[in-house]
Amino acid sequence: MTSVTVNLADRSYAIHIGPGLLDNHELLAASAPARQIMIVTNETIAPLYQARVAAAFAGRDVVTHVLPDGEQYKTMEYLQAILTSLLEHRFARDAMIVALGGGVVGDIAGFAAAIYQRGMDFIQIPTTLLAQVDSSVGGKTAVNHPLGKNMVGAFHQPLAVISDLQTVDTLAPREYRAGLAEVIKYGLIYDQTFYLWLQQNMAALLAREPAALTHAIRRSCEIKAEVVGQDERENGLRAILNLGHTFGHAIEAGLGYGTWLHGEAVAAGMCAAAHMSHQLGWLDGEDVTGLNALVAACGLPTTIPADLDERAMLKYMAVDKKVRQGQLRLVLLSAIGRAVVTSDYQPADLSAALQACR
Ligand code: NAD
Ligand code: GLY
Repeated sequence: MTSVTVNLADRSYAIHIGPGLLDNHELLAASAPARQIMIVTNETIAPLYQARVAAAFAGRDVVTHVLPDGEQYKTMEYLQAILTSLLEHRFARDAMIVALGGGVVGDIAGFAAAIYQRGMDFIQIPTTLLAQVDSSVGGKTAVNHPLGKNMVGAFHQPLAVISDLQTVDTLAPREYRAGLAEVIKYGLIYDQTFYLWLQQNMAALLAREPAALTHAIRRSCEIKAEVVGQDERENGLRAILNLGHTFGHAIEAGLGYGTWLHGEAVAAGMCAAAHMSHQLGWLDGEDVTGLNALVAACGLPTTIPADLDERAMLKYMAVDKKVRQGQLRLVLLSAIGRAVVTSDYQPADLSAALQACR
């Protein structure tokens, strides 16, 4: 097992990464030290992993809340159902939630923990690659609103993150590849060396080789922890973690949530951001080509879907949490490994990028 710390003073916590951690009862039990435990998971993950996690809490008051599977259920309605279940089971404020699943489960369960009786503790047990490298770390919790993704939520840090590498073995190839998009993101925004490593080791990662996977998850978590440790509430630096996301969220919302996976939309979004960075004279054409090749090698999309025209993209991009004083800020690249958050561009630059990324 290897561990990374998210340094947030008295709310600091560890991310534990390793094979077989779901069977480490001591670790699980110590990470969620409450008498009442609600495991929030979904109908796909429950038959695979719920019993193993519940076994770690034998002798305590354990309830499992099973959500339907899908981004379309990350809503107020299903959040309300979790809160109702907590109340029906008379869970007190010192109870804890264990979020067992991908980013959808982690986001909605974390938000329930953030608001139940004004806040209770929770831990994250991420079971997708995307959740292990991104959504379980950093304390962003949310549900979707019909008018925008993740528009209702809260910052609420978990007490711990426990990533069992073996859970990735049961992940569908498409879901696994979507997680790789966020891994590539970390290299692009923060660490050129890691990006080069990814270019050289993508075959091993696609084969889910444990050594490559451990390095990719650990380095991704280190970068995220470093960024979140400096800017927990996204007053500045943290926005770089959203490279490709403004374009990506527009694709997800425009096509209807669940049509493209989040990671797929982010992949195309990162390519669009790279095109725009090149048009602004910041990024070499070779780097754009290289990124497109890396993304394509993962089997991820490099272009915006044809049925979303520029008007539709701009409409959805306008509903973005990075809008300040009416100005849409975008995360762009000044080099591989260096991201810039800027509103210093002309509408024509954005328009050209949306055209180029087809
Ligand atoms: P997901 O949670 O929908 O999981 C993907 C699919 O894999 C689902 O069908 C799920 O049931 C299944 N699954 C999960 N673990 C499995 C396993 N081990 N074996 C087999 N199947 C498994 O999707 P995701 O990609 O994990 O997360 C996407 C969500 O995360 C989006 O809602 C996105 O907005 C959110 N997100 C949040 C943050 C954040 O900082 N909070 C960051 C990135 C993404
Ligand atoms: N996934 C973006 C963030 O956590 O800030």
